[in-house]
Amino acid sequence: MGSTNPLNIKDTRRPMLEAYPGIPKIVPWIPLMDGVPTPVQELDILSKQFPGHAIYIKRDDLSSSIYGGNKPRKFEFLFADAMAKKKDTMATAGGTGTNHGLASVMFSNALGLKSKVYMFKQPLTWGVQRKLLMYVELGAEIKLVANYGELAFRGLWEMLAHPRSYLMLPGGSPLFGLGTVAGCLGFVNAGFELAEQVKSGAMPEPDRIFIAAGSTGSVSGLILGCKLAGLKSKVSAVRVSANIVTNTASIQRNIRNTLKLMRRADPGVPEVALVYPGDFEFLDSYLGSEYGCVTRAGQDAVDLVNRLEGGKGFHLETTYTGKACAAMLDHLRAIPKDKGETALLWNTYNSRDLSHLVGDVASTYPRLPKAFHQFFDLKMTCWQYKDNACESPRGCPAFQSDDNRCWLVKAAHGQDTTRCVDCSTRKEIEGHLAIEDA
Ligand SMILES: Cc1ncc(COP(=O)(O)O)c(C=O)c1O
Repeated sequence: MGSTNPLNIKDTRRPMLEAYPGIPKIVPWIPLMDGVPTPVQELDILSKQFPGHAIYIKRDDLSSSIYGGNKPRKFEFLFADAMAKKKDTMATAGGTGTNHGLASVMFSNALGLKSKVYMFKQPLTWGVQRKLLMYVELGAEIKLVANYGELAFRGLWEMLAHPRSYLMLPGGSPLFGLGTVAGCLGFVNAGFELAEQVKSGAMPEPDRIFIAAGSTGSVSGLILGCKLAGLKSKVSAVRVSANIVTNTASIQRNIRNTLKLMRRADPGVPEVALVYPGDFEFLDSYLGSEYGCVTRAGQDAVDLVNRLEGGKGFHLETTYTGKACAAMLDHLRAIPKDKGETALLWNTYNSRDLSHLVGDVASTYPRLPKAFHQFFDLKMTCWQYKDNACESPRGCPAFQSDDNRCWLVKAAHGQDTTRCVDCSTRKEIEGHLAIEDA
């Protein structure tokens, strides 16, 4: 397989692999994360707004200094599989704002692989534009597809015409039961990691864990990992993409197949039965009209947490973590405070600063393939307007930041936003960012 530690990661201990040492002998694995175990922290300021309850966060945003979030956990198995198969290119797919695609390109670059990302349209936000600009700096090959039919065709073509390409399905999880569950193992390990943290007193055993469910690999692995590691916490899967992909059947199938893979590799892995509903629940009402849309509940959760807890070095976004957080807050609001619960929000979104990869909008986007230029017809931040009201947008803390609503970033930095409140440019960009009442 070449080097078994190509990034020279110092701490290569993974509690699941220690519990079941047969697994890495059979299933390819390489260490890629230099930030595990990711910390758990109480969100003490937010908790005060929910008397009787305690809210914690699992800081997976710090999982890797290359790109944090949930992806590196899966990549330790998926990139290892690609390298074991002597592939030289990592090809994957996602929406135009895909975190998975971006993470895949960044790890491919670090590992000396070529990369390709096939993309389908999703609702336009500054976050989407910002990520597209990064591909220019990263030198990745990106292609826009018209629909899921074309995506399937491209995937098939990739396998047939480019035998040295490794095809990683969107999100790094099986799709309709096809593809490997190896990535889910990364989240089985995450369950073991949390169990160790609970045991060592870093946090009480959570009553519930809230996590965004897209391609469902993360939540499936986590449910199985918590069970195998002896945690009694109930995992709440918050659906953030289309029902056809994100559903209870796909979670149950992933769990079954992951367990099968683990037991084949290490007979010491016990047979466990997971019941739905019971061991986990599936929360279905936070998506809005489509994948990637901004909902009122999601945006409000993002704003609340970023305002209260933004000083801790992470922030939520509206496609995944904001929706998971909205579900958690609704759950806590519905529970009497004398039945106080401990809730854990699994922060799956990267917090490493990538602003050095974001070039000037006007001069960078023309370097993207022509099909992507349409996503820059609308200006989604004030500094994209030449005649904006700010004297010096480059001096503003919101300049090139990750947030879709730049004036809130400024407020969060304690700066005067009187000028922004009345600014006609702000009103125009707020109009571009359609927020759904969901
Ligand atoms: C930030 C973030 N959270 C959660 C998810 C969902 O994870 P999964 O696809 O494993 O369900 C993704 C997937 O792209 C993501 O980017």
